[in-house]
Parts: sequence; structure tokens; C-alpha cells
Amino acid sequence: TKDRFSYLKRGSYGTVDFTDVEYFKNLLGVNNFITGEEVKSYNEDWLKSISGFSKYVLKPKTTEQVSKILKYCYKRNIAVCVQGGNTGLVGGSVPVFDEVILSTSAMNSIISFNKLSGVLVCQAGCVLENLMNYVQSEGFVMPFDLGAKGTCQIGGNLATNAGGLRLIKYGSLQGSVLGLQAVLADGQILDCLNTLKKDNTGYHLKHLFIGSEGTLGVITKIAIQCPNTPKFVNVSFIGLESFDKVLSFFSLVRKEFSASLSSFELMDSVAIKSVQKNIGIKCPINGDLKFYVLVELSADNNYISHSIQNCLEKALDEEIILDATVADQPSLIQNLWKIRENIPESLLRYGYVYKYDITLPHELFYDIVPEIRKRLEKLDVKAVCGYGHLGDGNLHLNVATLEHNVEIASAIEPYVYEWTSKCKGSVSAEHGIGFLKSKYLKYSKTNLEIDLMKKLKNTIDPKNILNPYKIFPQDDN
Ligand code: FAD
Ligand code: MLT
Ligand code: ZN
Repeated sequence: TKDRFSYLKRGSYGTVDFTDVEYFKNLLGVNNFITGEEVKSYNEDWLKSISGFSKYVLKPKTTEQVSKILKYCYKRNIAVCVQGGNTGLVGGSVPVFDEVILSTSAMNSIISFNKLSGVLVCQAGCVLENLMNYVQSEGFVMPFDLGAKGTCQIGGNLATNAGGLRLIKYGSLQGSVLGLQAVLADGQILDCLNTLKKDNTGYHLKHLFIGSEGTLGVITKIAIQCPNTPKFVNVSFIGLESFDKVLSFFSLVRKEFSASLSSFELMDSVAIKSVQKNIGIKCPINGDLKFYVLVELSADNNYISHSIQNCLEKALDEEIILDATVADQPSLIQNLWKIRENIPESLLRYGYVYKYDITLPHELFYDIVPEIRKRLEKLDVKAVCGYGHLGDGNLHLNVATLEHNVEIASAIEPYVYEWTSKCKGSVSAEHGIGFLKSKYLKYSKTNLEIDLMKKLKNTIDPKNILNPYKIFPQDDN
């Protein structure tokens, strides 16, 4: 990290000294104050693309402890990096220099669940999969799902405004989150933990924190609306020969199923091969096809199982698709999902991954993938692939290599972002800006927007102690 980002200068923050250490230890207890070798994993992101130099991890259990930590750090001018499950893909969750890491991992209690309204209230450090299992036992589902569910935390999900695999059905988190509690940089506790479905009493301050990536406050509690568990679910895995056919099939499925469509995921052959080769999961469809699609339907009426059969037969007859398999039993459904969910991990096993998470108009969705393949054809690249949430217009273009390489990086960036901007797309569909993309914020936001964002940041965190060096472009840009 040091060499690649040598243009960066550490802000003039305080350095943690003996007195500070004593304060944190007394406040949290020795078990929740981490130092030494154990800090290493908190300094490095999931992609192993960057690593910081923090010496201390603080693990508060309560909002009041978070408040005391921030009040203290604010007074001492100590910079703080907020960390949830550390599965973020833009380097936002790890320190850049020696920021103290505030981990929400010990804030993992479910506070209440209302079976009538479906409203779950919990602490920010609850792991998404635990929440999924909990609400499932009550007949509900979480309104979103990610491949990182076993590790990511709901606070991190809100802070990144995570999208994921079911956004097409349940919408973005901004709609499902009813309220939240956050601790501001100076330690004040902001209570917007509304649990009402309807509340138009002035500005909705919760929206400031959803997608704020740890720069405006530490989210400590969340109230989220959970839908009822759909009575019937089925998943189809489909092979196709061209991207045009993928779009025709999308159009067909959308027309047929509208509100019952809960996922429409695209995977190209390179992504599928990566899962086969590096994870050892077999593709359920034989032959070397160019594209694969995973369609999940969920509804309270089993019309979906008959209708999907009809829809697939029609698509086969009309040669829109080449082959398909359908599952409606939980374990078989899970097996099909495993292929899709293991793509990120499989690519990382090549060594290093350049990740581009962009929104594009459907007609242009895949064009950039062959374009990048061509640009990189003479360089030492292990895989160039496209997959993602096609239903939401969200492409994940990934380039896997043995290790980070400046020549490869400069062949892709800023080219990909210029392309995206020309298509009026977004340079970050769902992963956020964090550290790795701050340079490219300008491709999706106007100067006035960035200016207003800076003013907000400055009003809420005037000393810039919360997650510095993130979101906003640094000096070299
Ligand atoms: P972290 O990585 O710890 O933090 C992410 C950001 O949020 C950082 O800027 C951090 O400072 C801030 N933050 C964390 N907790 C808090 C808090 N309590 N208060 C304030 N700020 C906080 N993302 C998607 O959108 N869709 C996907 O489908 C998806 N799939 C993924 C699959 C895999 C295998 C992996 C590894 C990642 C995936 N991600 C996906 C990215 C990542 O999981 C999400 O961004 C997730 O929401 C991050 O949660 P986290 O708890 O790990 O947060
Ligand atoms: C996904 O959809 O798998 C995630 O966003 C992670 C990734 O982009 O690799
Ligand atoms: Zn994704």
C-alpha cells in the first residue's frame, strides 16, 4: 500500500499514546481492546488489495461505549476507521495510515422483532446470515442477500447501501430501513431509530448514513422492515449462446413474472470456468456455452413452477436459450446459488483482482467485457469476466491476475470509468467509493454535488476524524 499510494499524506492527527491506551482499556476491558499480532487481519481488506498500519482495534459493546470512544478521539484529534465484517470491496473498511479501528463485531444483539409489522431492531454488528436465520424462524426474510452474508454485518450493509442478489424484488436498502441510531464524530448519539412505516416529519436524516461508508457517523442500531417468507421459490439455471439472447430472455421473464422475479443474475463462461477450476463446483449445464443466467422466482402462489416450465419451453423452442435446469427444493436451490455466489472467491484465488462494479443501460451491459479483453490481450492476465445483477443493470467486470501490476491497471483505468461515464452509467453500482475509487467519483458526480457532500461532511465531522482518505478525492487528483 505504501508504494502505490505514496502521494498520500497522513493528516495531522494525534497519535495514540500510553494514556489513550489506558483510557480505552478501562472503558472496554482488555478483551475488547486488541493490539499486537491480532490487529494484522483488521488492517487488511478482503481483496488483500490494501493494508493499513493501525496498532489498535476497539470493540465496543454498546452505543454508550461508541459515544465515549468518539468523544475521546474527537477531543484528542485521533482518526478512526469504522469496520464491520471487513468484506467491503473498495478499501473503505481498513485504515490507510494508523487510524484506530473501531470494530462493531461485539455489538451483535437482536433487540426486538415485531411479528405483526415484521420490523427487526438490532445492533449494527449482527452478521447478516444470523439475522436471516433469526427472521426465517419467525416466517420472515431479510429484504436483501449477499454472497458475503456469513461475514458482513448489517451496519456495514447500511453504511455501503449494499445491493446484492434480491434488489430487483425488494428494492434498495433505503426503502427497507425504517430508522437507525448513529454516533456522530463528537460522540453525540443521534436517535433516528424510527420503527414506523410512515413518517414524514421533516428531513429523513437516516438517508445521510445509508451509503456514508463510515465517514459521517458510526451506525449503532438499525430498524429494518422484513417481508414475509415467500411460500414458493424456484431457481432456474440457464445456458445461452449470445448476450442478445440473454436480453431477449430477460425481457420474456420480466413480462411473465414481474413482481415474482427475485433475481436475474448473469455469469459469462469465464466466470463459470473460474468457479469450476478454483473452487471445484461443477456447472449443472453441459457444454461450453457463452452465457449463463440464474433466475430466482418467489411467490405465495405456486403458479411460478408451472409458468417457469412453460416459459423455458417457449424459450427453448424459439432458440432464445440452449439449455436449462430448474430446482424447487431448498438444497438444490442452494447448490445452484453456490455457483453464482462463489465467483468472487474463485477469482481471488488467481492472486489479485481488479474489480469494476458499474451500472450500465441494459443494451450496452456486456460490451465493455470483450473490449477490456482486447485491451489486455498481450498482458499477463488470468481471466477477464463479466457477471452480476443484470436485472438491476449492475455489471461486475473483473480482471484476475497473479499480482497487482501497474501496466495492467493503467490499461483498464480510467478507461472503464470514462466508458461508463459516456454511457451515463454509475462508476459504483453497489460497492461504494471507499478508498480505491475516490479518484473516480468525478465520473459519476458533478462538482457541485461533490462540493455539497464535502460541506455536509465538514458540518457533521469538522475535524475529519471519521474514516479519513475515503470517498473524497485526495491531493493528487
Ligand atoms: P465493512 O467492509 O467492514 O465496511 C464497509 C464500509 O462501511 C467501510 O467504509 C466502513 O467504514 C463502513 N462501516 C462498516 N460498519 C459501519 C457502521 N456500523 N457504521 C458506519 N460505517 C460502517 N456488496 C453488494 O452491495 N452486493 C453484493 O452482492 C455483494 N456481494 C459480496 C460478495 C462477497 C463474496 C464479498 C466479499 C463482498 C460482497 N459485497 C457485496 C461487498 C460487501 O460485502 C458489502 O459492501 C457489505 O455491505 C459490507 O459489509 P461489512 O460489514 O463487511 O462492512
Ligand atoms: C457479487 O455480486 O458477487 C458481489 O457484488 C461481489 C463482486 O462483485 O465480486
Ligand atoms: Zn454484486
